[in-house]
Amino acid sequence: MPELTAKLVEIFSLGGSRAGILDLPRKTWPVPGQYLPAQALADTSEILPTSLFRVGTETERLALASLPASWQPGDRLALLPPQGQGFQLPATARRVALCAIGMDPSRLMPLIPLALGQNATVTLFCDPQPSPDILHLIPSVVEIAPLSALTDNLDWPEYLALDLPREALPKLDELLTLDSLPFEGQVLVRTEMPCHGIGGCGVCAVETRHGMKLACNDGPVLT
Ligand code: FES
Repeated sequence: MPELTAKLVEIFSLGGSRAGILDLPRKTWPVPGQYLPAQALADTSEILPTSLFRVGTETERLALASLPASWQPGDRLALLPPQGQGFQLPATARRVALCAIGMDPSRLMPLIPLALGQNATVTLFCDPQPSPDILHLIPSVVEIAPLSALTDNLDWPEYLALDLPREALPKLDELLTLDSLPFEGQVLVRTEMPCHGIGGCGVCAVETRHGMKLACNDGPVLT
């Protein structure tokens, strides 16, 4: 399988994770929600065990997380091209809800400039509330609200993007009664994806309303 190489040019903290800037050419950037299997170029593993996701709101540089503790600025990485299914923001959506449940919203943040670029109003619903380093990167036109404000206003969004751990999937239906929602919704399921589908390990299998899905190939963004 063809591999990419890139240099880690900067490392910073975001929402409690290590994030970094990679000098990959734009044509090889993952869309929000997709991931890049990666490892240090010097490593000899055959599976590239680290999954890197787009984070933050920068549009001119590629910000990714979460980086292993051993990676340092200047390190060169080996990567595979973007994997899996990412978010598909409908071009017609003018009221966009982003919702992080039980975790920081960093992987939803790349949707913010896309939504604002199509003149959408964006509200970020979070539980827990974002940390100061995340708040610092969110444009002031984006409203930030608690999760309860979304469940009380389900007639507001035209598109909903969720980010949550796989353990929270069973309670999603009771939280949002997804079958009856009057808008498009997609869910980024955070789970381990140790083989990226290469080995068929099944560790990333999640049960959905449409049957069992592999987060590594069918997701990690599920519709
Ligand atoms: S990570 Fe192994 S099948 Fe998905």
